[in-house]
Amino acid sequence: QTIIKTGKRQFYKNLLKSSHVSCKCFNARKSSDVSRKFISFDEVVAQRRTEARQSIVVQVNSEASFNELYGYCSKYATIKGIYHYKNSSQEHFMLIEFDSEDNMKEVLRSCSAHHKDLDVMALKSPFLWFRAAIGRKETFSPPTATLLSLNSSSLVDEDVMLQDMVKCSTVSEQMQLLYDRTFLNDFGTRLRYIVARQLECVLQSLYANIAVRPFGSSVNGFGRMGCDLDLVLTNVVTEDMLDASRRLVYQDKKCEGGRSPWQRHMESVGELLELRVPGATRLQRILHARVPILKFSHEYTDLECDLCYNNMSGVYMSELLWQFGALDPRVRPLTFAVRRWAKTVGLTNPHPGRWITNFSLTLMVLFFLQQKSAEGCVLPPLKDLVKRAGKEDVRITDESLNCTFLRDLNKLPVECYSQKKASLESLLLQFFEFYSQFEFQDKAISINEGTAVRKPNGLPLYIVNPLEQALNVSRNVSFEECERLKLEVRNAAWQLEGFEGQKEDDWGLISLIEKKSTRGLKKLLRVGNSHRLISVKDLFDDTEEVMSENNLRSKLQ
Ligand code: GTP
Ligand code: MG
Repeated sequence: QTIIKTGKRQFYKNLLKSSHVSCKCFNARKSSDVSRKFISFDEVVAQRRTEARQSIVVQVNSEASFNELYGYCSKYATIKGIYHYKNSSQEHFMLIEFDSEDNMKEVLRSCSAHHKDLDVMALKSPFLWFRAAIGRKETFSPPTATLLSLNSSSLVDEDVMLQDMVKCSTVSEQMQLLYDRTFLNDFGTRLRYIVARQLECVLQSLYANIAVRPFGSSVNGFGRMGCDLDLVLTNVVTEDMLDASRRLVYQDKKCEGGRSPWQRHMESVGELLELRVPGATRLQRILHARVPILKFSHEYTDLECDLCYNNMSGVYMSELLWQFGALDPRVRPLTFAVRRWAKTVGLTNPHPGRWITNFSLTLMVLFFLQQKSAEGCVLPPLKDLVKRAGKEDVRITDESLNCTFLRDLNKLPVECYSQKKASLESLLLQFFEFYSQFEFQDKAISINEGTAVRKPNGLPLYIVNPLEQALNVSRNVSFEECERLKLEVRNAAWQLEGFEGQKEDDWGLISLIEKKSTRGLKKLLRVGNSHRLISVKDLFDDTEEVMSENNLRSKLQ
């Protein structure tokens, strides 16, 4: 039978224990325990997974279907909340959360299959559509809940945001505004967990104890609206299944052939995505990479998804980042400003390559916040969290990676964090200054130590992987890109310092996050709004785009 490593056994025990405890904790906290400052990552995940288990997404004709859909579903179950959104194809959807999973199942039992087409095999999924009533329309009493109408999951009105930034009185306010407008909100998170739940529903009939969990920026607190959805598929072995005293044992199905069994299983999951997952399209199989991935688009939710197998270290990494973000309210807005600046100046790129990634940039921000100054530091080094970990925090992955660190931040003494009282603006400037002077040539960035360590090799940028310290998460960054990083942090520091006191239309953070090529055009629009005149020639002076005057005027109309 399957040989189970001690590590694996311990890992599953902890996983089971922690998810059990977290559900209880969440309920407890809701009712009485308001004195606890921090809620744990496991508690948040358990709550989100519960929400997803009691939710459905229904395609409707328009927003006007609300009363009818609400009335129809209320016949079967109690509705807790209902949200309306449109995807990029302008199709309308309503996400409905019911009071309980049983309630939701009651609704699913009342669903019918789509049509009599013989090419389609019936399936059950939380994604449904609302058929027009046959014959006389039923009348329903008015809904007792209000409909929350939301933008498509990825759209933030950039122009409005930038105009509002002009009106801010400090750079700190601008940074907070950027964060508040662009962070992945409750609704975006709900959609992500429902897609994970949809895959779980399809796979659970084939695999025992399957779980599909979002990780990466969808859950680590650093996600923005429209970020991709990283998913990990795990095949959890329960404590019962490990009980050696049980005499009846499931026969296993061994995977024959030379290839890794999970590569083959992922191939079949790919087939299932194509055949059995409504909404999943444009599947790409990247199965020969170190972490095999299935990439697909989910057209009902406009999400770009990456599904991998058993990459629990990715989940723990997300938990770690989430914890650091939760410790001080300045961490996430600062990281958003830095990531957005890096995108604007072209340091990051949506395609993988020799560029620095958002993940590496986030580690750079955390590392900067761990630096001790006269006022103390904002964040503790990871080694402090490891030192304070208890038995309940032990997590060892299948690959024997030790991902143990303190999970309950309430146990961390307050003097370990949030000491530096600097404003967001001052932290942003200090971030750029810190990396302007950082000795990239000889030093590596380690959030484990919280101080620079000696670089073990000559790679241009070295950022120690916090959960696998022998690895460099920025090993892909080329010499040229590292040089550009050094140049851009110096430019940014210089630009931000230069703005003291002056308030042009692109003052403060705007100059760092608005592309130069569009700045002229936007400037004209903003100036136009405040009834000042600006000539088209002025506009061309700082517009890299080449356009004729007429062309430009027609664009502005
Ligand atoms: P986005 O750019 O918004 O997608 O940020 P992200 O944090 O989701 O990054 P990405 O999708 O590239 O990676 C998903 C997760 O995988 C990250 O949050 C990390 O937990 C993990 N990850 C990314 N890059 C590395 C790496 O180089 N090494 C390791 N060990 N984990 C990584
Ligand atoms: Mg991601």
